[in-house]
Amino acid sequence: MKDQIIALNQQLANAGASELIRFFLEKYKGKIALSSSLGLEDQVLTDMVCNIDSQTKIFTLDTGRLFPETYDLIHRTNQKYGIKMQVFFPDAEKVEEMVNSKGINLFYNSIEDRKTCCRIRKIEPLKRAFAGLEVWICGLRRDQSITRSEMQPIEWDENNGLIKLNPLIDWTEEQVRTYIKEHKIPFNPLHDRDFPSIGCQPCTRAVLPGEDLRAGRWWWENPETKECGLHKR
Ligand code: ADX
Ligand code: SF4
Repeated sequence: MKDQIIALNQQLANAGASELIRFFLEKYKGKIALSSSLGLEDQVLTDMVCNIDSQTKIFTLDTGRLFPETYDLIHRTNQKYGIKMQVFFPDAEKVEEMVNSKGINLFYNSIEDRKTCCRIRKIEPLKRAFAGLEVWICGLRRDQSITRSEMQPIEWDENNGLIKLNPLIDWTEEQVRTYIKEHKIPFNPLHDRDFPSIGCQPCTRAVLPGEDLRAGRWWWENPETKECGLHKR
């Protein structure tokens, strides 16, 4: 598989984001999905995917701790594109057990507890969302963080046994914002209030001038640990 991925990266080296998406949507029809956190990048991808084939599966993981603005955006996006984003919830019993034993805001206790919360609220539902898929499309960009600086547009996701497509891997934040504006794409109003990267409400704060894009995510942790496990390599 790894050889195939290298060949695909070479074959599609000059393809733009939309071309890349079109290639994969045609080749893997019915076995490909966009996972959206409703962030700026994912809104660009939703627009591109819907312009090519609006029947494509688009799903989001509702951790139960998202910002109200994010829920509004799910609704607005569905309306704009005439789609129904699939929403995946965590297992209720596991969430109950976790918060009743470790506390409702356990993520602030330790990295271990934070990762437990991410596992139960995000990773396990993600595994269910992957049923029947061969490719998942993500909105990762290299300049988002040091943990992402070496990612390729097309990767083999060993943990999940899937091809991972990152069509915006080379895009800058500026390019993303320009695309959103030019195509009048709905976006989270928090982005205009110094929240460049938005995850769960208790684990996201606004960034200060000069701080990096993901400084507001799990801000009490070191940059090296700041991944929820969705994008383990
Ligand atoms: S995270 O790992 O820190 O949470 P980030 O917010 O940068 O990830 O998003 C990177 C990509 O992961 C998104 O473009 C999206 O494809 C996927 N993703 C992140 N959070 C979610 C979510 N709640 N639901 C679906 N996909 C998500
Ligand atoms: Fe839990 Fe925070 Fe991870 Fe959301 S980001 S799943 S609230 S630890």
